[in-house]
Amino acid sequence: MAVRPGFEAGLPGAAAKGDTVDLETSRVVISSVAEKQNAIWDLAWGPDNWIWFTDQDGKLSRLNPETGEIKLLLQVKGYFRKRVGLMTFVLHPDWKKFKQVFVNYSHIDSDSVITAKLVRYNYRNGALTDPELLMEIPGYQGHNGARLVISADRKLLWATGDIVQEKKVLDPAYPNGKVLRLNLDGSIPADNPFPGSPVWCMGFRVPQGLVYTAKGNLFVAEHGDATDDEVNLLTRGGNYGWPYIAGTCDLPKEEAYCRDNHTIFPVKSWTPTIAPAGMDYYNGNISEWKNALLLTTLKTQSLRVLHLDASGTQIVSEDILFSKKFGRLRDVCVSPAGDVYIGTSNRDWNPPANFPLATDDKIIKIRRIGKVPAKDRKKAIAGENTTESGATIYASYCESCHKPDGRGVPGSFPSLVGSAKLSRSKEGFLSMVLNGGQAATGEAMPAFTFLSDRQLASLASYVRQQFAPELPELKESDFKAFRK
Ligand code: HEC
Repeated sequence: MAVRPGFEAGLPGAAAKGDTVDLETSRVVISSVAEKQNAIWDLAWGPDNWIWFTDQDGKLSRLNPETGEIKLLLQVKGYFRKRVGLMTFVLHPDWKKFKQVFVNYSHIDSDSVITAKLVRYNYRNGALTDPELLMEIPGYQGHNGARLVISADRKLLWATGDIVQEKKVLDPAYPNGKVLRLNLDGSIPADNPFPGSPVWCMGFRVPQGLVYTAKGNLFVAEHGDATDDEVNLLTRGGNYGWPYIAGTCDLPKEEAYCRDNHTIFPVKSWTPTIAPAGMDYYNGNISEWKNALLLTTLKTQSLRVLHLDASGTQIVSEDILFSKKFGRLRDVCVSPAGDVYIGTSNRDWNPPANFPLATDDKIIKIRRIGKVPAKDRKKAIAGENTTESGATIYASYCESCHKPDGRGVPGSFPSLVGSAKLSRSKEGFLSMVLNGGQAATGEAMPAFTFLSDRQLASLASYVRQQFAPELPELKESDFKAFRK
């Protein structure tokens, strides 16, 4: 994996209007085409050559990418936004004949029952009208997924999250933790793998990326738990393993399940996790990104360029761009001319350090303007940081919830600063990191048994120095003993 030239260094900040950045051989200009939006979820290039996009507050809008003009198409009523709200949408590919838009949002009724709705609208006179409910499935405040695409054979694919109901993720009778497949009127296709069921494939945790490549391969990107964020190549009726398998069958407890069940392994996985979100296929004029999946990430706040092989089924290498420059990146779309647009999500429930900026949320444009002269070409900075200090381990595994300053997110993730559990005894820390736990709010902390005793000891020492001076010193042998 390589960190590519361009925007790794420097302070986070607005893309100055028209910053010129040199990739390896392409010179690109990066500018923001929309600002002060509210947690963008989905971007799509429209048949009108405007960008259609959703924000989590129930708005679907159109943006003129040349002038910055924005027109509101729809304000969904009755959406429920805690962590998610209005999520994904997709336009009918035969737009001349069918001016239809499929929209997915989270809803709460008067009895506090949360669902996720799939609604079809008609586009008429600059607005979306005649909502027709195609499907409604169980929802949750988070873990809903979601992403919609339409296939070349005109089926609607809908990636749904596990809504923290792990037991049902591999049950075809239950629509969560799946990729569902529907006809465009909401009915169930006769050739689905489980007769009468909308399920196309299963075993996903929180999928937020779903895309067809030019070759017709369908890829999903999903969030793992403590380990193994994944990109998977989807097949009809496939079992992708969650909640029994994260990544491959590399742990003793996973082996038994793998022996008895056919599960499909990811084409790419990440530990430490990166929190992958929206994904698009690129084959445009930025030559170093040709035949690649472009994947946005929330936790690492970066754009990942996942290069595909000639068959389009394997990921052969990865480049990382813009780390922490623009904050959380939720989605990406590509224009027919090869321009790339990314949408930020810094006004969602979990903003990173230094964000949101007053100008957030943004849609950022990347456009190739020419070649980098040979004399100016920079080399990629090789490799990842392999020295693992406690600080690195904290940043990789703990910071996304407990935050860089250790103070957590009120109501979701407890503060480590002033934590009674850390001051009382060694057991508080040992038990949290090796057993995990679930808070009264329903938020869970995964177990970190896959970290070595040495990693855990340097992590403990970092936590003591930074956040919890009362935490007793913990040695490798303490972790070893506790595991038994
Ligand atoms: C996915 C979010 C998440 C991640 C990642 C995470 N935690 Fe937690 N953590 C939680 C939640 C939720 C709780 C409360 C659990 C409970 O009350 O049982 C918690 C509780 C704790 C506590 C007890 C605090 C208290 O006073 O209740 C400690 C200590 C802790 N975490 C340390 C860590 C360390 C160290 C890491 C990194 C290895 C980490 N956590 C990673 C979500 C997370």
